[in-house]
Amino acid sequence: MTPATGSATTQQPNTGAVAVPQITVLDTGGQYTHLIARRVRELGVYADVQASDTPAAELKNRLGIIISGGPASVLEAGCPDIDPAILALGVPVLGICYGHQLLAHHLGGKVEKGERGEYGIAQLTVTASDPLLSGIERSRIWMSHFDTVSEVPVGFHVIGSSETSGVAAMSDRKRRLFGIQFHPEVVHTQVGRQILENFVFSICAAQNDWNVSQRVPLVEDQIRATVRDRNVFFFVSGGVDSTVAYTLCLRALGPERVFGIYVDTGLMREGETELVRSIFDELGAKHFIVDSAEPEFRAALDGLHEPEAKRRAIGEQFVKVQERILATEHFLDGHWILGQGTIYPDTIESGGTAKADLIKTHHNRVAGIQSLINAGRIIEPLTSFYKDEVREIGRELGVPAKFLARHPFPGPGLAIRCLCADAHAHAELTNDGVILPVWSVGVQGDARSYRKVLALEDPPSREAIETIAPALTNRRSDINRVIANCGTKAPIESLQVFPATITKQRLDILRRADAIVRDFCLTSGFEDKVWQFPVVLIPVGTDTGRESVILRPINSVDGMTADVVLMPSAGLATLTQRLLQIPEVCAVFYDLTHKPPGTIEWE
Ligand code: XMP
Repeated sequence: MTPATGSATTQQPNTGAVAVPQITVLDTGGQYTHLIARRVRELGVYADVQASDTPAAELKNRLGIIISGGPASVLEAGCPDIDPAILALGVPVLGICYGHQLLAHHLGGKVEKGERGEYGIAQLTVTASDPLLSGIERSRIWMSHFDTVSEVPVGFHVIGSSETSGVAAMSDRKRRLFGIQFHPEVVHTQVGRQILENFVFSICAAQNDWNVSQRVPLVEDQIRATVRDRNVFFFVSGGVDSTVAYTLCLRALGPERVFGIYVDTGLMREGETELVRSIFDELGAKHFIVDSAEPEFRAALDGLHEPEAKRRAIGEQFVKVQERILATEHFLDGHWILGQGTIYPDTIESGGTAKADLIKTHHNRVAGIQSLINAGRIIEPLTSFYKDEVREIGRELGVPAKFLARHPFPGPGLAIRCLCADAHAHAELTNDGVILPVWSVGVQGDARSYRKVLALEDPPSREAIETIAPALTNRRSDINRVIANCGTKAPIESLQVFPATITKQRLDILRRADAIVRDFCLTSGFEDKVWQFPVVLIPVGTDTGRESVILRPINSVDGMTADVVLMPSAGLATLTQRLLQIPEVCAVFYDLTHKPPGTIEWE
């Protein structure tokens, strides 16, 4: 883990962290661990994330400790654990979800296997007055757990309950130990901010000390200290993260010492390369090069179907292309180090902290990159910041607002939006709808799922998004996603899955569909109503048109959870007609699945 003082070592990239955090979040492998730290920072208090079993001696100068949620069960051997001595430090401790169960388990309470998990919205009823729940009576909360605390430890009181969790919140005021079964860090928990505020300020007595704009000069100092007399070589994507990381280096080191190379992977959206070139001109970049690597990436993806195999191939190809460029340009002479725009969530979702379940491999954390990190040849100035903090840094640096407002785009590009299939298969009619045997990735109870898709006959509606789709993904264990039919050239039960891999022709179809959607969004104003709008191509259709397009407009704060956004039906009908004019496209569907249980991207 990153050392608390943040000094750059050969094992860790530059993190930009300098002070001692007031609050430490102990990571038991939950997908939302970093979100907790982020929420505390939003309150203006410096928080960091450390391994769950960090020795108590290293945490005694903290004002508060939060134990995160995680996918494990305290009832199973080898589960992530804490140093129990932290519970006797006199430092206030808040356990969240798995952390709540861990507190009960260590202090003599009882944890039981739930009969079935509880995922989604629940109602919290406050049953006793307590500083943690001060100002709250009854409120909407968000649950994602399997086990439950059935008996609180001696010294604890139940302070809140929900329909299915008798002990939704517990407190031992004397020892200042608290546990909550629900997640205060996700936006769906109405009073989440209030609870964290109560903990951080009233219980821990933390002070305001975190302000992103004050961090910028410190990060620049760290860049200079890490880079020393070397130059920085940046692979930029035109996305917000690498652009801001690049600009930080540009400011810290001057335009002569910072090189930007944009690798054209052939997996980008229409017009992207020209746009990125104009962005870097505007930023004042002196050395900006475009490298055409399209054939190399397509060869690496040839014949692959499985998402993780595709992600690995792209990650490894990035490293190979980087090595080729570094060798041809004589960048390996010791005077160069590589810059990356990696941010916190990129490291957690790759299992970057010790215990997180692997949901998806991010391309900037594959083995080749890891070995460069170990060799001290990578600088990642944004690795301790979150997306909205990165935008704030960008504003501080004067990066034009139109760049900062760009929707996020995944590193592996359109390859993870162009689904492949290794066998021919038919759609399967069920009482619930039509099962399409194409698999997509999801996330449920902190763990990865890879399941089929259920297509509904009717067009998307609010009821389908809020009620029908969640009920189906909760009930059926063979699917993790539900889509609605916007328009087809053939009845959906007659659709077939065709064997398909990544080809230039399929990428061009996807690029066309994506450009049609983007153009529609920009002219209709829908662009500003969504946080991201992936367009996905699946090899589903009939002999005359073997592809279907999936529309996935979502809203999100940070990409960790997401809500489906419903498009007005007249606009959707127009858009569907335009997409069906692409000869190869047989059907258009609308993804009705929130995250969880679906991920934002399909792979
Ligand atoms: P998921 O699909 O995991 O996506 O719900 C969450 C957010 O992360 C983006 N994403 C990526 N970004 N490299 C990136 O830089 C990746 O490999 C990657 N995979 C997903 C995704 O677009 C969404 O905004």
